[in-house]
Amino acid sequence: MTTAHQTGTVYLVGAGPGDPELLTVKAQRLLSHCDALVYDSLVPKEVLDLVPEGCERRFVGKRRGHHSVPQPSTNAVLVEMAQHHAVVVRLKGGDPFLFGRGGEEAAYLAKRGIPVEVVPGVTAGIAAPAYVGIPVTHRSAGSSVTFVTGHEEIDKRRPSVNWRSLAAASDGLVIYMGLHNLPRIAEELRAGGLPPETPVAVIQQGTVVGQRCLKATLENVAAQARAQAFKSPSIVVVGDVIEHQVEACMPTPAAVTMPIPF
Ligand SMILES: C[S@@+](CC[C@H](N)C(=O)[O-])C[C@H]1O[C@@H](n2cnc3c(N)ncnc32)[C@H](O)[C@@H]1O
Repeated sequence: MTTAHQTGTVYLVGAGPGDPELLTVKAQRLLSHCDALVYDSLVPKEVLDLVPEGCERRFVGKRRGHHSVPQPSTNAVLVEMAQHHAVVVRLKGGDPFLFGRGGEEAAYLAKRGIPVEVVPGVTAGIAAPAYVGIPVTHRSAGSSVTFVTGHEEIDKRRPSVNWRSLAAASDGLVIYMGLHNLPRIAEELRAGGLPPETPVAVIQQGTVVGQRCLKATLENVAAQARAQAFKSPSIVVVGDVIEHQVEACMPTPAAVTMPIPF
């Protein structure tokens, strides 16, 4: 507990992609002694259970069939928690600064004089492909990879992605939240010059129970993902790196279940 004139520190902590063994040592240490926990969807119960008994918990993610808590309410919860607790963990799936609004929350807290510190995490865009043996870069598959969101039509505040330019500019793509828009994304990438036979992989629920991987081409990936009922959370990888998959190095997914937010 903090005294009336002090505020606690908010740690923006990356929870990793799901497998609790991919938490960083620092994340685990903070979780094990925090006074308050503010968490999102896409964090398994086994990770949440690392917090001490008596820790105040607030869920601010998306529940099935409901909208997520609006960002201003989440910001307000963080301020309130910092006013009442010394160590506040704001836990986010993957890495807090990669498509996780961590930057917005850090700026909001810093502006109000609330101590805030980021704890990077293992992002799903690297870990989910790795758990199916796909390296996101390979010397024989070019020199660049782009992390990109496929979620644009919902978040109008972001400038839209120029898929055609990306097709020409980046050797590989790692697409977050891209499943819903996959037909259009594939079409745009082809219009940008990528051949129809370009390899594409979709990895659902990477690193945890339910993990599965579809390998297809730009031409047929959308139809195959639909036919095989692929669901969120999924990462889509586009590019020749998929041909460098090494199945022998695949870890066993953790025996934990990822809450599916929608
Ligand atoms: C709001 S973004 C958050 C990304 C997160 N900050 C990170 O660094 O991984 C959520 C998206 O990440 C991807 N994702 C997160 N966890 C995943 C997992 N275990 N397997 C596959 N995709 C995942 C999905 O594309 C999901 O829609």
